[in-house]
Amino acid sequence: MTEDGELSAIRHAAQALKDGALVALPTETVYGLGADATNDKAVQKIFTAKGRPADHPLIVHVAKGADLKRWVMHMPEAATQLMAAFWPGPLTLILKKSRHIPDLVTGNQDSVGLRCPSHPVAQALLREFAQVGSGLIAAPSANKFGHVSPTTAEHVKNEFGAAIGKTITLIDGGPCEVGIESTILDLSSGKPVLLRPGAITPAQIAAVIGTMPFNRDEVEAAPRASGTLASHYAPRTVLRLVQAGDLKQQADALLNAGKRVAVLAFATQANANISPPGVGVRAARRLVWITAEGGVEDYARDLYANLRTLDAAGAAEILVEIPPRGAAWDAVRDRLMRAATRE
Ligand code: TXA
Ligand code: MG
Repeated sequence: MTEDGELSAIRHAAQALKDGALVALPTETVYGLGADATNDKAVQKIFTAKGRPADHPLIVHVAKGADLKRWVMHMPEAATQLMAAFWPGPLTLILKKSRHIPDLVTGNQDSVGLRCPSHPVAQALLREFAQVGSGLIAAPSANKFGHVSPTTAEHVKNEFGAAIGKTITLIDGGPCEVGIESTILDLSSGKPVLLRPGAITPAQIAAVIGTMPFNRDEVEAAPRASGTLASHYAPRTVLRLVQAGDLKQQADALLNAGKRVAVLAFATQANANISPPGVGVRAARRLVWITAEGGVEDYARDLYANLRTLDAAGAAEILVEIPPRGAAWDAVRDRLMRAATRE
């Protein structure tokens, strides 16, 4: 897009938000489905479009440097420090909300999730919307509830097809660089609690606030977070996590039973020594293989696009090699575990 084209797309989208319509926008993590957070009718459209239960709170996005006093009851010192260190960037902070944040946005909780995304298009839209409207964009990931999050404009089209260009304005900002949803840290209760792991790690947070965040299971009555449901981020095909050493046996068993198999593994297909029985193109089509990037940042960036490709293969099962142990892979492992879980 030309600079002029991009500017007019952003102006158009800011106006759509002001008019109470939905805008799908790029962020550095995943694409969001946004609405004016101060407009109940507009926010309701998000829940309807996603098929999302009303008690699942939405994250509210703000521009860099936005004055948050009006929106929160109290700004803890830790929040100020973390904003200075990581905003704009993939960190959502849960804070006690003021009465100016509608209950619909927060699922009737007394706290609000605030995030300042670093994607330049998201920032430009937030700035423009602060000029013409509230400047607050409530946006969950732009996918149907429970499904794989979108990391390209094409993925958003696949989720909301007919509505794009009609009731949803989509801004294409290219593929998302981080690829998995933001880290969520709850600061509303006096002690920091990690609600969802992401690219910003507990160790990075501890380096700024001086204490390691608690895990959800270490505190009572942690706030709800939909990404914390057992089943989430899930492709439609059954997905199983498999140890590297078991991959060949599991894939061969399915292939030998005449089934189609989709694999995400660190090894190449040749090195894993798995091939469908039979010869020619038809046999080859029974195995769809993606060799994953070995570094965690690249793996995370590609994860949802890879899951979508494997889901589209029409396989009986998706087999995913379990990623390495260690804290660096926590966020990726978290998403894969949920993708592998059925209700
Ligand atoms: O990276 C991201 O955070 C993306 C992009 C679009 O910004 N957004 C995202 O939104 O992942 P969503 O709705 O898919 O996930 C939002 C998570 C949910 O797990 C929700 O329950 C939690 O944030 N959340 C929001 N407000 C909350 C609150 N007040 N208390 C507890 N959890 C909250
Ligand atoms: Mg989501």
